Amino acid sequence: SCTYSALIFDGSANPAHPKHIGTIDPDCAVTEVVKDAFDSSKMLCEQYYLTSPEIDLTQVNAKGPDQPLRIVYVPSHLYHMLFELFKNAMRATVETHEMALHLPPVKVRVSLGSEDLTIKISDRGGGVPLRKIERLFSYMYSTAPSPVDIDNSRNAPLVTPCPGAI
Ligand SMILES: Nc1ncnc2c1ncn2[C@@H]1O[C@H](COP(=O)(O)OP(=O)(O)OP(=O)(O)O)[C@@H](O)[C@H]1O
Ligand SMILES: [Mg+2]
Repeated sequence: SCTYSALIFDGSANPAHPKHIGTIDPDCAVTEVVKDAFDSSKMLCEQYYLTSPEIDLTQVNAKGPDQPLRIVYVPSHLYHMLFELFKNAMRATVETHEMALHLPPVKVRVSLGSEDLTIKISDRGGGVPLRKIERLFSYMYSTAPSPVDIDNSRNAPLVTPCPGAI
């Protein structure tokens, strides 16, 4: 079974984040979210592979190098997107450099322009061949080993083995 619940903003302040408006942070410190997501992914990576790459983080702010890099955003969404990308980057880096003594860092560049914020993440994990690029946007696609089938009839979509991947 699956339960989805959404918290509806009722105008009252969130005690943990009094400045947030519902899930929106009017002063979202992007680089801090990047570091949090990287750290969580790094912990998982350490648990699984006993090693993990470092982060090489740079930030560029069109408003001025000394200006705080903050945007109006939903930090939890940003965190989840980054967390998934970092897990991918770390897995690719560790598996590609299995025999190496030093893992190449995952590079992250946060740039705030006059209209947009861009986060570029690059790794030396070997990349994805063009032939497979299309599949990456398919929700069910994964090259990771599928979790053990506990109960076939009640499998959640996240743990259903992908036919294309086996
Ligand atoms: N940074 C990367 N470098 C190399 N290959 C990558 C990278 N990111 C994704 N891939 C490839 O794309 C596949 C799909 O990635 P995706 O995140 O959708 O699924 P996954 O990481 O296998 O599983 P999960 O659903 O748990 O994230 C990966 O299994 C991997 O083969
Ligand atoms: Mg992934």
